Amino acid sequence: MAAQIIDGKAFAATVREKVAGHVARLKEENGITPGLAVVLVGEDPASQVYVRSKGKQTVEAGMNSYEHKMDADTSEEDLLAVVNQLNNDPNVHGILVQLPLPAHLNEDLIINSIDPAKDVDGFHISNVGLLGTGQKSMVPCTPLGCLMMLRDHHGSLSGMDAVVIGRSNIVGKPMAQLLLGDSCTVTIAHSRTKDLPDVVRRADIVVAAVGRPEMVPGDWIKEGATVIDVGINRIERDGKNKLVGDVDYASCAERAGAITPVPGGVGPMTIACLLANTVTACCRANGLAEPEGLTA
Ligand code: GUN
Repeated sequence: MAAQIIDGKAFAATVREKVAGHVARLKEENGITPGLAVVLVGEDPASQVYVRSKGKQTVEAGMNSYEHKMDADTSEEDLLAVVNQLNNDPNVHGILVQLPLPAHLNEDLIINSIDPAKDVDGFHISNVGLLGTGQKSMVPCTPLGCLMMLRDHHGSLSGMDAVVIGRSNIVGKPMAQLLLGDSCTVTIAHSRTKDLPDVVRRADIVVAAVGRPEMVPGDWIKEGATVIDVGINRIERDGKNKLVGDVDYASCAERAGAITPVPGGVGPMTIACLLANTVTACCRANGLAEPEGLTA
C-alpha cells in the first residue's frame, strides 16, 4: 500500500490563512494588532535564516514584527534587560529568543525570564508544567504542528498507540504530553531504549524527532501506521547536498498509511504555529475568545 502524503506545506498555508483572518478581525473589531518580538544574539547563519523567515511571515499575516539583533558577546544582564523591556511592552504579545544562545549565556535563565503569557515557544518552565498537568498553556510550535496534522488526518486519536522517538524538551517531551492529552497510549523511546524496532512496530502513530538521518527503516513500521518525521538533516549523497528526515522515506512510505515528507512536512508547520501562538497570546492578553483550531 502506498502511503498518503501529509502535505505540511499546504496545511501550513491554511493555518497562516486562518491566522491572517483572525488578525484582520482583531484589527477591525478591537483595534488591536498582534505583535511578535524575536531576539537574535550573535550571527549563527541558520538562526539568521529562521529569524528572517519568521519576520517575513509575521508581517504577511498582518501582524507587527519586532527584531532585536544583539552582538554575540552580549552580556546576560543586557539580554535580560531587553527581555524585560519586551515583557512590559503592551504592543508585544509574543516573545521568542532564538536558540541556541552563545555558550556564555544561561539558556534556562533567559527563557524563564520571559513572561509566560508571551512565551510563544512554550519553553518557559510554567508552560511546561501547565502542559504536563493538562492546563491551558503556550504549546511548543513543532509538536503543536504535528498534533494539528494528526488530528486533521485521523479526527480522534483516542486509544491509539503512539511512539515518540526522541526525548528533547523542544519536541519529544511536549509531543508526548500532547498525544497523552488526546488519549493516546504513549511511549517515549530514545537512544537507550531496548528493542527499539519492536517498540516502533507496535505504534499506530510514530513521531521521529532524534536528528539522525534516515534512522528509522520501513521494516520498523506497522502496516498502515501514520509516520510524522520531525527530522531535518543535511546530508551529502551522490555529490549533492540533500535534506532528509529521521525516517527512511522510501521504505517507510511503502508500509505507512500516511507519512510526512522532508522537506514539506513538519518544517513549514513550525512557523505557522508560531504565528498561531502569537494570535492566541494576543487574544488571551486582551480577554478575547481564542481562535478556534489553532490551539492544542
Ligand atoms: N531554534 C531552532 N528552532 C527554534 C525554535 O523553535 N524556537 C527557538 N526559540 N529557537 C529555535
